[in-house]
Amino acid sequence: MSKTYYVTTPIYYVNDKPHIGTAYTTVAADALARFHRLKGEKVFFLTGTDEHGQHVARAAERAGVSPQEWVDTMVVYFKEVWERLNISNDYFIRTTDPKHVEVARKFIQKLYDKGDIYLDVYEGWYCVPDESFWLPSQLVDGKCPQCGREVELVQEENYFFRLSKYADRLLKHIEDNPDFVQPEIRRNEVLSFIRQGLTDQSISRKKLRWGIPLPFDESQVMYVWFDALLNYISAIDYGLDDEKFLSIWPADVHLIGKEILRFHAIIWPAMLMAADLPLPRCVYAHGWLTVEGEKMSKSKGNVISPHELIDEFGVDAYRYYFLREFSFGYDGNFSRESMIVRYNADLANALGNLVSRVIAMVERYRDGSVPEPSGCKGDADAPLREAASEVFGRVDTAMERFAFNEALQHIWDFVDAVNRYVDETAAWDLFKNPSQSDRLDEVLYNQVESLRLLALLLVPYMPNAGEEIWRKLGYEDSIHQHHLPAEAGWGLFPPGRKVNKGKPLFPRIQR
Ligand code: MSP
Repeated sequence: MSKTYYVTTPIYYVNDKPHIGTAYTTVAADALARFHRLKGEKVFFLTGTDEHGQHVARAAERAGVSPQEWVDTMVVYFKEVWERLNISNDYFIRTTDPKHVEVARKFIQKLYDKGDIYLDVYEGWYCVPDESFWLPSQLVDGKCPQCGREVELVQEENYFFRLSKYADRLLKHIEDNPDFVQPEIRRNEVLSFIRQGLTDQSISRKKLRWGIPLPFDESQVMYVWFDALLNYISAIDYGLDDEKFLSIWPADVHLIGKEILRFHAIIWPAMLMAADLPLPRCVYAHGWLTVEGEKMSKSKGNVISPHELIDEFGVDAYRYYFLREFSFGYDGNFSRESMIVRYNADLANALGNLVSRVIAMVERYRDGSVPEPSGCKGDADAPLREAASEVFGRVDTAMERFAFNEALQHIWDFVDAVNRYVDETAAWDLFKNPSQSDRLDEVLYNQVESLRLLALLLVPYMPNAGEEIWRKLGYEDSIHQHHLPAEAGWGLFPPGRKVNKGKPLFPRIQR
């Protein structure tokens, strides 16, 4: 049996509601999960919420409720927005789930029994919003080097994880496996960080109550990052159901933002090595989004909720814009203007018009029934067939590299090729001339066949649009039961079927 393709997002802190930055990772992960399902693979797609830690406890305190009440309220905002964004996760993990708590305690006990965890005194600085420990030498102007906010002095007896013990093995693993940390710039960052030497990590907090108590010392709770990283294996029943766990683990990719790279590319693999578990195949760190040129922040009041944009542009356009506009590994800037431009050019004009035109021609010239291909060829056919036969392979190669924007570029190259075909074959002229009737049949069939392929190609990125085109082509079953490249061959559309005009896919946005 082939292994399940396992893709994860980070689990989100529930101190705040989701915004377009947090949704960025999840939308990308969803497209990836759907792409692998489209290929006919078994997929496990995980997302969830990170509910322990000091800043969640403080957010609850500020709201005047218990931490549990707080997280129970906040988690709903995440579930709601994922549902609206058509996120197809197979499981939703919460770190307050009893199952997660049980697995995390088992895991840490294993490392303690092995001697990889020991008690010592921690003295240093702690950034509460980032939940990160820092050495005095790492601070920038006395503030958190990552987010620039105030840090707090921590001095307490903590348990430490022997991270240093795994430094050489980790370095070798990253050197030997060029794809383990992606993109390249992040891999270099991790390599140089490890080469500077790794110190053991504090992995417990004494004064905090909101966390998972250590099984070997109930007076301390697990450091929130140690707890959080374990979600990737607790969700698939590590230590509870070996058969299930082994059919899914290791993860094929952990998609994360660049600021949480060290946790995923250094601490997490070392934790797995300590537990004698295989490492994930890849950790991919994407860039950060700014809004109209500025970092999103509550104080600036420029935090954008996905709901706002979904209300205005629709779910598919939302997904399309974020995957198409930015190069995943790099930082990007959101602007309403660029979203409107993309929407009108790519969705309303190139794609939406193409679908309407083709359906309208079948209705007008063949009473809505897709004709049998006549075999009457023309010069325009070969370039169309070539574009159709190459597009999936190109998309696949781009998706292998998590280049969502390139994958969509290839699909739109195909959209352009079909639009050219429609223009060049000029069905409206063929219709005027009865001797061209066979050619008209062939041309219309080829156009419809192109839309069939296009609908399938779109499914991972714009599931609703894919399904709608499917309906317009007269299919009654779900497009999600169909696969590529299995059904990429030319000529699979059954002639004689009635098309349905329906509503336009992406009505133009007037400005
Ligand atoms: N809880 C941790 C992750 C634990 S994973 C074991 C965490 N949560 S977070 O809610 O702060 O961030 C989650 C993800 O959202 C990160 O991948 C982060 O990069 C992403 N983003 C948050 N703001 C972002 C932007 N402005 N732009 C792009 N992604 C950003 O970290």
